[in-house]
Amino acid sequence: MSIQALTSSQQAIDTEHKYGAHNYHPLPVVLNRGKGVHLWDVEGKRYYDFLSAYSAVNQGHCHPKIINALTEQAQKLTLTSRAFYNDKLGAAEQYICEYFGYDKSLLMNSGAEAVETAIKLARKWAYLKKGIAPHKAEIIAVDHNFHGRTTGIISFSTDPDSTKGFGPYMPGYKVIPYNDVDALEQALQENSNVCAFLVEPIQGEAGVMVPDESYLAKAHALCKEYNVLLMTDEIQTGIGRTGKLLASYYDDVKADVLILGKALSGGVLPVSAVLANDDIMLCIQPGEHGSTFGGNPLAAAVAVASLEVIKDENLTENARVLGEMFRKRMTRMQEKRPELVNLVRGRGLLNAVVIEPTDDGRTAWDVCVALMEKGLLAKPTHGDIIRFAPPLVITEEQLHECCDIIEEVILNF
Ligand SMILES: Cc1ncc(COP(=O)(O)O)c(C=O)c1O
Repeated sequence: MSIQALTSSQQAIDTEHKYGAHNYHPLPVVLNRGKGVHLWDVEGKRYYDFLSAYSAVNQGHCHPKIINALTEQAQKLTLTSRAFYNDKLGAAEQYICEYFGYDKSLLMNSGAEAVETAIKLARKWAYLKKGIAPHKAEIIAVDHNFHGRTTGIISFSTDPDSTKGFGPYMPGYKVIPYNDVDALEQALQENSNVCAFLVEPIQGEAGVMVPDESYLAKAHALCKEYNVLLMTDEIQTGIGRTGKLLASYYDDVKADVLILGKALSGGVLPVSAVLANDDIMLCIQPGEHGSTFGGNPLAAAVAVASLEVIKDENLTENARVLGEMFRKRMTRMQEKRPELVNLVRGRGLLNAVVIEPTDDGRTAWDVCVALMEKGLLAKPTHGDIIRFAPPLVITEEQLHECCDIIEEVILNF
């Protein structure tokens, strides 16, 4: 038995296809290096990354400060489990709490784990603080949500790809339409066992669906009125991506429970977190929740460095300014090909362009393949939507160069 050196793209694709589960459908590009906004394939071709690993790489690939924190800590101590204290976690928890303005943080690994943590926290709070009868707590979610892939989370997904063939589903959830305050009010009126409303401030996976202005503010007001926790999943929208530190800030909302992941580690290793104040977080007691790797010293060091980079390099402001430029350029392009480009939407550097299928059946996937050939990597979602989300370290000059590529491909499509 020996490890095969995969030297060509085709060889790598074929090997992965043969030995890996077929749970993804990647674009046919094989990457082996990343720096800032760029990625390189095994043949040495350079690309602009316009996906940023679904917004995990806000700080750019292999950011030196984050990699430095990783390698320094990796040589000292990587994992103790939470059976013992380590000298990194407390300081990281304090930094994260002060950064986002909460009393307490609970570190996990993947985004889905953080969502599961928030759900458990809400249920505990329901029984200990709200006085809901055992096993009766209900959580309201919205349609077209994406919160992860666990059996619990898919129980309230409305996407057949996520759910079909994976039942039975868990009870305790009600799904209402997104961006519909009346539906929320009705659901709250109908059931006094509701303990939380779980929502993405902008729905990333659904295709960058931006709700009406003040949707979240009105939802928060209703949550307060009915003594229900507002839990915002900012795993994709958070940490500068949308031009504010958190997308909820567009509505001046501070959620009761904040869920973070992805860019919390700058894409270096899985780090996620749930933040809440003491009255909520202290509902969970020792032994009731955890994870072997959650809050490990390596993750703690990386998370602090990742958050520092966002502040030090003004990446939130960069996302806001360059996001406006990007949408301006895309809207101008749309005016030239309205029959092909249906819609441009987004906030900061989380944007989407909706592509109409052509008469000969070509779709957003084919646009992405053409973009790839021109050196820009983006991925379609739901058939007709292309998400454009470069690392937030992109410069104005690079952004214009990328808009030129997108325009050239789409106008000639
Ligand atoms: C809003 C949101 N929540 C949760 C998740 C799940 O995160 P993970 O893939 O790290 O489990 C994602 C991933 O795309 C997401 O976009």
